[in-house]
Amino acid sequence: MSRVALVTGGTRGIGAAISVGLKAAGYTVAANYAGNDEAAAAFKAETGVPVYKWDVSSYEACADGVRKVEADLGPIEVLVNNAGITRDVMFHKMTPQQWREVIDTNLSGLFNMTHPVWGGMRDRGFGRIVNISSINGQKGQMGQANYSAAKAGDLGFTKALAQEGAAKNITVNAICPGYIGTEMVRAIPEKVLNERIIPLIPVGRLGEPEEIARCVVFLASDEAGFITGSTISANGGQFFV
Ligand code: CAA
Repeated sequence: MSRVALVTGGTRGIGAAISVGLKAAGYTVAANYAGNDEAAAAFKAETGVPVYKWDVSSYEACADGVRKVEADLGPIEVLVNNAGITRDVMFHKMTPQQWREVIDTNLSGLFNMTHPVWGGMRDRGFGRIVNISSINGQKGQMGQANYSAAKAGDLGFTKALAQEGAAKNITVNAICPGYIGTEMVRAIPEKVLNERIIPLIPVGRLGEPEEIARCVVFLASDEAGFITGSTISANGGQFFV
C-alpha cells in the first residue's frame, strides 16, 4: 500500500507541483485548497488527485478535513504544509486584519494541520512533515512584515517539532523557496519584480514549482530518515543562511 500524503494549498502554484510530484513518486495524494473551486476542479480533472476544501486557519476545519481524508484514503503519513497567502503592504499602512490573516494562515495553519495528524504518526512510529517556509522568512522583505514573521515562525516550529518527533521516526523539515514563477509572485508589481527582484537572483530567473516539488519528494522519502529539523534553501543563489 502506498503512503498517503496530504498537501495543503495543493491545487495551485507550488502546491500543485508538489501534489503531482508526490503522485508520480507513488504516493496516494490528497490536495487541500481553501477557496478557488474552479482551479481545484480543473486540477482534479487533469491529475486525478482528489481535492478537499477547508481553510487551514481554522483548527476545527483542519481536524474535520484530516478525519475526512483519513476515512477516504487511510492514515496520513506525509503532511506538506504548503498553504500560504500574502497581504503585501508597507508596515505603516498595514492593518491589524492584514497582519492577522497572514499569521493565521501561514503560521497558525501549521499548528492547525500538524496537530491532528501528529498523534497518529506517533502511534504508528512514522511520519514526514515538510513545511514550506520562504526566503523572506530567512532574510525579511520590505512590504512583508506579516509574511516574513510568519515564515520565520515556521522555521522555529520546524526545529522544535523535529526534536519531539525524532524518537518516533517522524521527521520535520522546512524548505525555503526563493521567488518561484507562480501567481503569487506574478502579483508583484511588474516594475518591482523586473527591477528590484529578478536582478538579485544570481541564476537570473524565477524558480520553477517543480524545483521545489523535487525537494519535497526527497524529504518525504523513507530514505531521508536521518534528515530532520533542517532547512533546504532553493532560491537561485539569492540568499545564503
Ligand atoms: N526591493 C527594493 N526596493 C523595493 C522593493 C524590493 N523588493 N519593493 C519595492 N521597492 C521600492 C520601490 O521600487 C519604490 O521605490 P521608488 O519610490 O524609488 O520607486 C519603493 O520601494 C516603494 O514601493 P512602491 O511604490 O511599490 O510602494 P507601494 O506602497 O505601492 O508598495 C510594496 C510597496 C507592497 C512593498 C510593493 O512594492 C511590493 O509588493 N513589493 C514586492 C514585495 C515582495 O517581494 N513580495 C513577495 C511576494 S512573493 C512571495 O511572498 C513568495 C515568496 O515566499 C518569495
